[in-house]
Amino acid sequence: MLYHDVLIVGGGLAGLRAAVGLCDKYNVGLFSKVHPIRSHSIAAQGGINAALANNPEAKDDTWEKHTFDTVKGSDYLADQDAAEIMCKEASIIVYEMEHWGCPFSRFPDNSIAQRPFGGAGYPRTCYSTDITGHVLLNTLFERSVYKGVNIYSEYIVLALVVGDGKCHGVIVLDQLNGRIIPVLAKATLFATGGYGRVYYYSTNALTNTGSGIGIPYRAGIPIKDMEFVQFHPTSLIGTNILMTEGCRGEGGYLVNNKGERFMERYVPKAMELAPRDIVSRSIQTEIEEGRGFESELGNYIQLDLRHLGEKKIMEKLPGIRSICLDFIGIDPILEPIPIMPAQHYSMGGIDTDEKAETIVKGFYAAGECACVSVHGANRLGGNSLLDTIVFGKLGAIAIEEYLQTNEIKLDEKLVMGRKTEVEETIKKLTHSGHEKPFKILEELRGTMSQYVGIFRTKEELQLAFNKILELKEKYKHVKVSSPKPHMNYELIGAIELEYMLDICHIIVLGALLREESRGAHWRRDFPERKDADWLKHTVATLGKDGEPSISYKDVVITRYTPMERKY
Ligand code: FUM
Repeated sequence: MLYHDVLIVGGGLAGLRAAVGLCDKYNVGLFSKVHPIRSHSIAAQGGINAALANNPEAKDDTWEKHTFDTVKGSDYLADQDAAEIMCKEASIIVYEMEHWGCPFSRFPDNSIAQRPFGGAGYPRTCYSTDITGHVLLNTLFERSVYKGVNIYSEYIVLALVVGDGKCHGVIVLDQLNGRIIPVLAKATLFATGGYGRVYYYSTNALTNTGSGIGIPYRAGIPIKDMEFVQFHPTSLIGTNILMTEGCRGEGGYLVNNKGERFMERYVPKAMELAPRDIVSRSIQTEIEEGRGFESELGNYIQLDLRHLGEKKIMEKLPGIRSICLDFIGIDPILEPIPIMPAQHYSMGGIDTDEKAETIVKGFYAAGECACVSVHGANRLGGNSLLDTIVFGKLGAIAIEEYLQTNEIKLDEKLVMGRKTEVEETIKKLTHSGHEKPFKILEELRGTMSQYVGIFRTKEELQLAFNKILELKEKYKHVKVSSPKPHMNYELIGAIELEYMLDICHIIVLGALLREESRGAHWRRDFPERKDADWLKHTVATLGKDGEPSISYKDVVITRYTPMERKY
């Protein structure tokens, strides 16, 4: 059995920031599925929002204006008190990262450069060319090594141990050695990222299965607003690698097969820089109405950067050019980029407050796996990196307070009992049944992409719902070919699949019940936003019958009265 005062699960930005905040005083263990610098935070490109007012066109920008844009972009589902906290913290954490060595791009006066992003009233997205996630992650990883965080790479969490309303630790699988290890801890923070890989078309890393949301759900912790799934407007066709919003922030156009900048028809003022939910719907409409381009990789729209010129592309978007050359043989200096929308972000997640706390004492969550909620029904580009670092930091402060003010007694017997249960589950997966986990996963992803996409209807959601129940039945008969526990990806996939099925069940149920359109949840059969009935968060908990039980929770409104979103 291992012991740490604080246990962090996830080696991306939220997890590393929390670990760095605690390791001076506590023995912190950070468990990550992959080496921390391979975490999905590395894939973030375009930037991190903070009202620094460095851009000559943003001299009167303030954190209040950032908060307003965030709340409006969320289609008024964000909790406004939490959004205020995040936007107020933004400048502090950006300068902190700068002081810790993060190499941001610079304006000629040497201040941190800021570019326009979708849904933002001012150019406030701080960036490092188009590899902002990469530089932030490396900065925090270096700091965590320097500070002495104990990092366990390639350890997968299999279960959370909760008893008496308190968290006692987790059960992990040490993949390399095939050992199942109980880890006892006074406080546990999950920072495990999103669930993008329940979709077939996603910008997410293959590791983003969402088990970090499914595990707490199974342990009785509520999950919030899961029907709000973000589709990024511009992913490269074929691989769905992200083509950053920075491309449009730097002036890129979206063009249909008639050569039109079609955004003019949908949002004439904001054009390509409308919020993502709106741009994704516009692209999807163009494709559905026959104004897309056809290819064997799928129908697409063009993202045209050619008019920006070689110098600007090489200076501001060099990573985009390399990705296009490497993955599709296209040079954006010379040719438009073929793009399509793809799942990108999970607005929903573990129900937390602005201190990263959950209903279980000693259990915290931060970053994409959590739903505070600061993004509501639609997240603005550049607010995700911000969310990870802010709530990683605030989670660490809350954990310190918890450890200082509570006498925490841990139950070793409970933890060992949970380990035995996990071993039994693995034995069952490797000894009986006949269904192949990868086949179920393929069907699940296909179903989610086909029926639970940018536009939704009752009929489609019902089809998805029935299919998920059928796949859950099939899952009961899953068999993994090899019983060996070390580096057994089929086994890990089978364990994670159960959580993925739960997550999809909750997404679809929430989407079926929410008979309105808000942010990224767009019902063709209910195209209006209905504040009178639906200005509320969806909360899913595991019912006694093993099915999700849905309830609702008020949205916190402070100073911004919900109104029609106009851009
Ligand atoms: O387009 C992007 O660079 C993505 C940014 C984000 O999701 O915040």
